[in-house]
Amino acid sequence: MEGKMSRRNCLAIMGTSTAALTAAAARPLQGNQQFEDIGAETRASRMKWWREARFGMFIHWGLYSMLGRHEWAMENEGIPVKEYEQLAQQFKPKPFPARDWAQLAKRAGMKYMVMTSKHHEGFCHFNTASTSYCAPKQAAGRDLAKEYLQAARDEGLRAGFYYSLMDWHHPDGARCATDEAARRRFVDYIHGHVRELCTNYGKLDVLWYDVSWPLDPKGWESERMNRMVFQLQPDIIVNNRNGLPGDFSTPEQTIRAEQGERAWESCMTMNESWGYNVGDDAWKTPKQVIRNLITCARDGGNYLFNIGPKADGSIPEESVKILSTVGEWLDKNGEAIYTAERCQVRRSNIANFTRKGNTLYVHVHFWPGEMVAVGGLKTKVKSARLLAGGPPLKVVQDDFRVQFQGLPKQAPGLVPVIVAECESEPAQDMMLVRKDRPREGV
Ligand code: GLC
Repeated sequence: MEGKMSRRNCLAIMGTSTAALTAAAARPLQGNQQFEDIGAETRASRMKWWREARFGMFIHWGLYSMLGRHEWAMENEGIPVKEYEQLAQQFKPKPFPARDWAQLAKRAGMKYMVMTSKHHEGFCHFNTASTSYCAPKQAAGRDLAKEYLQAARDEGLRAGFYYSLMDWHHPDGARCATDEAARRRFVDYIHGHVRELCTNYGKLDVLWYDVSWPLDPKGWESERMNRMVFQLQPDIIVNNRNGLPGDFSTPEQTIRAEQGERAWESCMTMNESWGYNVGDDAWKTPKQVIRNLITCARDGGNYLFNIGPKADGSIPEESVKILSTVGEWLDKNGEAIYTAERCQVRRSNIANFTRKGNTLYVHVHFWPGEMVAVGGLKTKVKSARLLAGGPPLKVVQDDFRVQFQGLPKQAPGLVPVIVAECESEPAQDMMLVRKDRPREGV
């Protein structure tokens, strides 16, 4: 009782926003906590596909999908474990829903998938020797993790598992913080799952840990965990949410680039829930999604974008529509996104930018009409055209401004892209514009 209450209070203090939990998990290690950078020697080669992939599908699916009130319903509504776990006896998805997910991901221009193998509720989609609280031993009667991976592979997509360390169902999931015997049991349970996931499903591309409450990396034995993972899956990449830096950072519901070469992936919901939430109609527009993807690509990161399938596995209609539209855009403009390099040019009120070598892509989200101008470009534009096709554009450039002229009056597409071939790597200096722009007569 004591333990349960303090856990609840702790979560209440932190707010139901999981960002706090996540931030804690992702915070750089401090003080005298020294951890080995496991996998450092092979990182560049392991991360290569991912750095070019840019866009992935996150899938949150679990017993909470039956309730349709957000994936935190168990915790936030205070549903007793005994009551909640009954859902496992009714969770019976239609045959092979992951096929639809994978086909949609492909159509949307996504290159990889990450599905919740176990969320905080503790229910496992995979087969495990450690508990009967798993899909194959409950109403579903089959291994849903396996189905998912099969579907992803059939579409030629990279795929991996999300796995929540925090567990609201396991009896030791909270008291492990204060009781060493409980910690031992619980950590063995969690490591056992990670071992099963990395052993029984063939090659995995990603292991995406989540919420490390209530232990620290020492308590989780995270170094040992990652060592085991790399031993079983030498090519896998892991994130930073078991308390170690891992291969990449995971800003959540926000786009925040890491410094230098450090890899990062921004994960985001399509409305305001990860899991299916019947009343949540706060859908992002396709244009917002495209703009977010552009920002990620501009700053060298990836965008892991979520769907929350219903209990039977079907994808909410809105999500299908949104992703299909994004896919149509990527079909025409993908060149400006995949394999883009970090781009220093960023200032405009109507456009955003990506770059590959000396080529600057000007993504115009607020189409002004026949002319688009960019200030402070420090390189000469040799030629320009619309990525979607059409004749060369007229380029008029002086030291402070480049104008692309002869554009159609109406936006030719959702976010039209101007390709500007430059003499050298494009960079922008707005101070130059502010200070040195001619001021005669003022
Ligand atoms: C948070 C939430 C969780 C979601 C995850 C995705 O950690 O607790 O519900 O799965 O973010 O990043």
